[in-house]
Amino acid sequence: MAQSSEPIIRFEGVTKRFDDDTTVLNGVSFEIERGKFYTLLGPSGCGKTTILRLIAGFIQPTEGNIYFNGKLINDIPANKRQVNTVFQDYALFPHLNVFENVAFGLRIKKMKNDAVKQKVTEALRFVNLEGYETRGIHEMSGGQRQRVAIARAIVNEPEIILLDEPLSALDLKLRTEMQYELRELQRRLGITFIFVTHDQEEALAMSDEIFVLNEGSIQQSGTPTDIYDAPINRFVADFIGESNIVPGRMKEDYLVEFAGRSFECVDGGLLPDEPVEVVIRPEDLEITAPELGKLQVRVDTQLFRGVHYEISGYDDAGNEWLVHSTRKAVVGERIGLAFDPEAIHVMRFGETEEEFDKRLEEYEEVGDE
Ligand SMILES: Nc1ncnc2c1ncn2[C@@H]1O[C@H](COP(=O)(O)OP(=O)(O)OP(=O)(O)O)[C@@H](O)[C@H]1O
Ligand SMILES: [Mg+2]
Repeated sequence: MAQSSEPIIRFEGVTKRFDDDTTVLNGVSFEIERGKFYTLLGPSGCGKTTILRLIAGFIQPTEGNIYFNGKLINDIPANKRQVNTVFQDYALFPHLNVFENVAFGLRIKKMKNDAVKQKVTEALRFVNLEGYETRGIHEMSGGQRQRVAIARAIVNEPEIILLDEPLSALDLKLRTEMQYELRELQRRLGITFIFVTHDQEEALAMSDEIFVLNEGSIQQSGTPTDIYDAPINRFVADFIGESNIVPGRMKEDYLVEFAGRSFECVDGGLLPDEPVEVVIRPEDLEITAPELGKLQVRVDTQLFRGVHYEISGYDDAGNEWLVHSTRKAVVGERIGLAFDPEAIHVMRFGETEEEFDKRLEEYEEVGDE
């Protein structure tokens, strides 16, 4: 095995085109570190499953290279890769019982009966399904089938487990439970998980690192807090949680103008007077008396969401603001909105991750001088 400092998976400029010439992935590069929980997050058709299939070896890249522990694996067939996939529909064998479903991969490897029994028992214990060995698949609930599928993957002791929207068939409560279980399982096993979802809350709750994808490109990668607190562009800001995104102008470092006024902020490194988009999360806005707020807004709608009220309104410049507050408001009422300089996040128009990193680097270099 290679040194642990080597990323377990590395994509280098990977492009995938199918026969009809449509580009499904466009020069994608990333690294996956050993033992972490990764999530590929993006809307339907953005290329999530395609990335998993490339890692699993079911398809080959049109251009670019894929490395496993530092070794080029473009031409290594799926059955020679130390990767197991949990599919969305679980793909369990309906005619086999729980035990034999989990044992399947070991039987193919012609493992001895005693060893199979020991490994399957251990895998079933891991997913809390001891005692279910002789049950038929059709006698298991959705959540239990999910666990059988996971046991079937971990029994092979792969280095990576790929999970393609494995929770999407479950109801909300079970889904939340399974999110927790999967995360715990990954921690206990220490195996690298690459999980696919188009549900941003799920991604934020489960991941060490998230790759946000759109139209075959990675828009942003980072920890859930990185991505939530500092989205790189409108797509990411919009896709990850609800956001207020309003047009603005950078006056100078740490001073941004929007809604007809200037506000202290913590962003810098943009050109003076550069047009920007300003992001403020609804939960970072606090309702005050009109004269005490940094902005004044007329309340347009209010919805009770269980833990908070979701209030929307318009400022005098015509920008819409969404507020999450435990305080009630009255439709038609004028309220003030208070927020900290840290709550303001400034984005350059249509900036890519590379441009953002470069700007940050240049900015930090200048700051060091
Ligand atoms: N074998 C194929 N031939 C041609 N086009 C394909 C093939 N497989 C996938 N595509 C196209 O590639 C794009 C990305 O597909 P992919 O399955 O990776 O999306 P996804 O992000 O997993 O979406 P979803 O969330 O709906 O599962 C889609 O536009 C799809 O139609
Ligand atoms: Mg898919």
